[in-house]
Amino acid sequence: MQFRTAAERREDLVALYREASGCVRCPLHQGRTNVVFGNGNADAALMFVGEAPGHHEDLQGLPFVGRAGQLLDQLLGEIGLSRKDVFVCNTLKCQPPGNRDPQPDEIDTCKPYLYRQVELIEPKVISTLGNFATKLLTRSNRGITSVHGRPQVHEIGGRTVRIYPLYHPAAALRSTGTLAQLREDISRLPALLEEPPPVPIGAVVPVAAAVAAEAEASQMDLFG
Ligand code: URA
Repeated sequence: MQFRTAAERREDLVALYREASGCVRCPLHQGRTNVVFGNGNADAALMFVGEAPGHHEDLQGLPFVGRAGQLLDQLLGEIGLSRKDVFVCNTLKCQPPGNRDPQPDEIDTCKPYLYRQVELIEPKVISTLGNFATKLLTRSNRGITSVHGRPQVHEIGGRTVRIYPLYHPAAALRSTGTLAQLREDISRLPALLEEPPPVPIGAVVPVAAAVAAEAEASQMDLFG
């Protein structure tokens, strides 16, 4: 893959933001105040992908600015990170009416923006927040209850990345058990960010890397 500097990738991200800001690809554009493209560090090692903008996000044009966002900020702070260190966005860039669930055709129409964001930001780890982002990016129907806190390696936007599914902070606001689990899963993020990049899927793996990958696989079992 061609090497691009962080400045070049950022410039393309700004161009993508401009394109998304005028998006009329699906009917959600009719009810929106603002497109919520996402924000944060354009060269972040860690990216969070939520579900869809809510009322406050739609009004401000920024992701996770309501109560769920405040909880996300708090949990990030507990591992020494802030919004400036990460990039935060959503599966859908426009608010669904009445905050209903995203529909499959809306996700399908909007996903090229997300894939391009991943391609341009080049994160090491993508934390999907809740079911919609997790199912989309892991291309699986397995729900968040069975996959949270277990890193998976996937090919997204032409790059091999670790996906680390997490409970949605809004779910953690409703249940202390979910909050405790989310906090525990997030506490493992710093170690995950220190891991060497995953071996590209389909690459011919040299023996040493294969042994390392095997060791990593058995480590993953510890996340049981
Ligand atoms: N919930 C989400 O999934 N995304 C936001 O931006 C806000 C709340």
